[in-house]
Amino acid sequence: MPATDRDVFQQPAPTFSLHELAAIAHERFGIEGHPLHVAALESERDQNARITGETGTFVLKVANAAEDHGVLDLQLAMLQHLARTAPHLPVPRVLSPLDGSSSARVVSAQGQHHVRVVSHLEGDTIAGLARTPELECDLGRRIGQLVDGLRGFGHPAAHRTGFLWHLDEAANVLAWLDDVVDADDRAVLSLAFARHAQRVLPVFDRLPAQVLHNDANDHNVLAIGDRVSGIIDFGDATFGRRVNELAVALAYALLDVPDVVATAMRVIGGYAEVTPLEADELRVLFDLVAVRLAMSVVISSHRTREFPHNEYLTISQAPALRLLRRLTAMRPEFLHFVARDAAGHSAVPQHDAIVDWLRSPACRPVSPLPFDLRRAGRIVISLADGAPGMHVANDPVAYWEWLHQEMVAADAVMAIGRYDEDRSCYAGDQFTTDSPETRSVHLGIDLFVDADTPLHAMLPGTVVTVVDNDMPFDYGPTVIMRHEAGDAGPFHVLYGHLSRRTLITVRPGQQVAAGEVVAYVGDHTVNGGWAPHVHVQLITDLMADPERGPDGNFEGAGEPGRMSVWRQIAPDADLLLRLGPETWTNAEAPDELMPRRRADLGPSLRTSYRNQLTITRGVGPWLVDHTGRHHLDCVNNVCHVGHAHPHVVQALARQAALLNTNTRYLHRTILDYAERLAATFPDPLRVVYFVNSGSEANELALRMARTVTGRHDVVAVDWGYHGNTNDLVEISAYKFNRAGGAGRRSHVQLAELPDPYRGRIRSSDHHAGVAYAASVGEAIGRAVEHDSRGPAAFIAESISGCGGQVVFPDGYLRGAHEHARAAGALCIADEVQVGFGRVGSSMWAFELQGVVPDIVTLGKPMGNGHPLAAVVTTPDIAATFANGMEFFSTFGGNPVSCAVGMAVLDVIEQDELMARASQTGSWLLEQFGELQRRHEMIGDVRGVGMYLGIDMVADRDTREPATAAANEVTERLRARGVLVSTDGPADNVLKIKPPIVFGRAEAEILVAELDAVLSRPGVRSG
Ligand SMILES: Cc1ncc(COP(=O)(O)O)c(C=O)c1O
Repeated sequence: MPATDRDVFQQPAPTFSLHELAAIAHERFGIEGHPLHVAALESERDQNARITGETGTFVLKVANAAEDHGVLDLQLAMLQHLARTAPHLPVPRVLSPLDGSSSARVVSAQGQHHVRVVSHLEGDTIAGLARTPELECDLGRRIGQLVDGLRGFGHPAAHRTGFLWHLDEAANVLAWLDDVVDADDRAVLSLAFARHAQRVLPVFDRLPAQVLHNDANDHNVLAIGDRVSGIIDFGDATFGRRVNELAVALAYALLDVPDVVATAMRVIGGYAEVTPLEADELRVLFDLVAVRLAMSVVISSHRTREFPHNEYLTISQAPALRLLRRLTAMRPEFLHFVARDAAGHSAVPQHDAIVDWLRSPACRPVSPLPFDLRRAGRIVISLADGAPGMHVANDPVAYWEWLHQEMVAADAVMAIGRYDEDRSCYAGDQFTTDSPETRSVHLGIDLFVDADTPLHAMLPGTVVTVVDNDMPFDYGPTVIMRHEAGDAGPFHVLYGHLSRRTLITVRPGQQVAAGEVVAYVGDHTVNGGWAPHVHVQLITDLMADPERGPDGNFEGAGEPGRMSVWRQIAPDADLLLRLGPETWTNAEAPDELMPRRRADLGPSLRTSYRNQLTITRGVGPWLVDHTGRHHLDCVNNVCHVGHAHPHVVQALARQAALLNTNTRYLHRTILDYAERLAATFPDPLRVVYFVNSGSEANELALRMARTVTGRHDVVAVDWGYHGNTNDLVEISAYKFNRAGGAGRRSHVQLAELPDPYRGRIRSSDHHAGVAYAASVGEAIGRAVEHDSRGPAAFIAESISGCGGQVVFPDGYLRGAHEHARAAGALCIADEVQVGFGRVGSSMWAFELQGVVPDIVTLGKPMGNGHPLAAVVTTPDIAATFANGMEFFSTFGGNPVSCAVGMAVLDVIEQDELMARASQTGSWLLEQFGELQRRHEMIGDVRGVGMYLGIDMVADRDTREPATAAANEVTERLRARGVLVSTDGPADNVLKIKPPIVFGRAEAEILVAELDAVLSRPGVRSG
């Protein structure tokens, strides 16, 4: 047993009279006073007194006769050191004896005593104070300063051996454990010592060490209000692990506080503001707190046995045991993470690396449910009080019925529980929380589906536990899987509220491939009486007991005040589920936006679909709605290279951050872009005019043709659409001949739509092309009749879009152009819809017809959604057009638009998107042909590259258009997450013209969904 401590303890404290103490103060230390006020102070082994004289108040300390001189010198040296290194730290200042020695000596019957005088510090010991959070922080800060101030300090006496209260030698007192009478108490104490052995000793040698005060207990710290005003009693100073200083302070600061974790976080946070804590120190901090408490209980029990009458010994035993019980009831790793979080480290060391991996392309999770979660029809339900459905929430059957109705109405196959306010829920499970707060913040994501739905492993992994959590509440089986996050190491996925069938589905230790069934969703009896759902949670660290291993259960909700720690233990399950951020907000539901839109935007703007879509985001060929559901975009030929293509976005952002002006200044980009664009055209199409929309391009093309020819009339193809301006509506039969249109104006002549399926000649061969071209000749004839000068232009889309995805018969445009040119008209090719490689085999669709137009107009895909359009023509036409009137478009050809246009060309080239359009398009045509063989309603399948149409008929023989049915097909596809639209004179042609990044995988979805829709009854009657 440590000899020194026992000797000092056995030697009673000195017993000088107050009068004698006053005399010592005056004579030996020169403290003046008439008289000096002397008051005794409590001490376990020394005699201390407060002396108030003329120059202030001091503490006079008469040491125990058995006290080692070296230890006393150590204390004086420490205080002197701190006066230099931490001048603002409130520790006593040393008053030197008058004789210049380091300490005075006095003699009593007990022997010789060293006497020191130090300044008296104001304040009350914090033991008796109601502590505020600010004071707890300040305590930490002061302990940090104390440690920091002692960093460079050394003293031989600091290396004393056999010091009983030395936390570095905690195990020394273990021999006295049997002196603790109560068996339950002994069990808790043993646990603290065992954890010390398991968790502290392995890293002990790595912990930084220095001289410490070593006893910042609540009787040795003084405070005034919210601030620490003194740290006193350096009697236990010793060399030891640096972290002990904080551990000792915490062991006392946490006694009987309402929230151990919150107080600890404040003290640790304050400390770390001044003195950073190393990872190893944080790992063992709470174990040291616990073992310090255990030491104190064991030592006092031992002394109680030796000195049964000394009450001081047992003073702190009961609160120490209470705190020890609270600490040991929490998972040691949880406390480790708490300490890290408080000290400004990421709570879970591996959290960031795991999350990085989960976000990286290396992580490719499959859906845990038997359908693609991204695409699945879903409703997001609020689980807050008062939310729809909550009126029957306590009746599982009624709730499930309500939920089912909602799901059917929304064509949803799953519901996602949205817990309002950071996904909060009420959790009342079996975990002790030692918090005044309920664990009410949900840590996972709940997916509501039918009971017994199989659940699949999202990644390859190993089953860790399969446990039936039926006590004390029935939460049903829980499966915990372990997965490897590359170099970041393992993480876990928990599936909760499972059916008992799960218990015979997998076993612990089993290796599982991604997609393998690992569980089944349980019903309301295993989830606290809710609709059937699975709770999916990510866990970075199971915080398992090192000896017992994972117990198969885990907290599914956390305390609001501890979320900074819980979020690192249980990161967002959406990292794997990938439901999307939209799922967790509720701001953009169509119900919210439609009334505003009606009021704000005017009724001529239409929305697609009966159930309108709010689209919040686009990724490649996908459009993401306000619930996070991904819809396959099969109609957007504007976002040509894919929605939000990073290369295009970056080009835009880069140039926007640099400069955006107009064409009145020189800028290289517009020239680079014009040259690159022109190079994709056959000669002599060389000159480019930049504008902002297809309409503006066609307007300019008309103006050009009229200026160059000196004529006005136009010949256009029936059912064409060329833009929204007055002039263009007048040449667009699709507009002027339909609802609200004013009919054909006399300066416009229409050539018939050369439709090989529905037109006069039902063939695509050259003969049909020539025959249809004759209709252009006739229209020119009519134009000459109207105005003897003849028409200024013949304009045609290179493939008719609004006409119903009509690919012209061979030789049509060649013939048409011959007629036009013979009459002195210019030939305009409108490539606004079909240009930029969509047709696959060539950049421009007019090339399919072997012609070279005089003017070509471009738009939609040109800027991938950025308003960018152009007119391309020959140098001769350009020269004649320059008749003195300036052409200027404010936005046309600005540097940002040109940078975007360049980026679009980059992507088309680099990703070989034309080849992809050819391949995917051919495969789709084949598959549509296959569907046509099986579904009577498909009258015709047509198109080139990724510009396709499916003509829906009520009767194949009569080719009667099935308008309502086609419309119903688009609605049903929309419900299944596939977006197509209809067009054509009878609005019965399904129009398919996706971004051309659309590949085989997407094409397969389209075909499968179309097949499913056409196979189900009711389309015809729709
Ligand atoms: C063939 C064709 N030309 C011109 C336009 C007009 O383009 P914008 O809407 O950009 O003015 C369109 C638009 O749909 C179009 O399809």
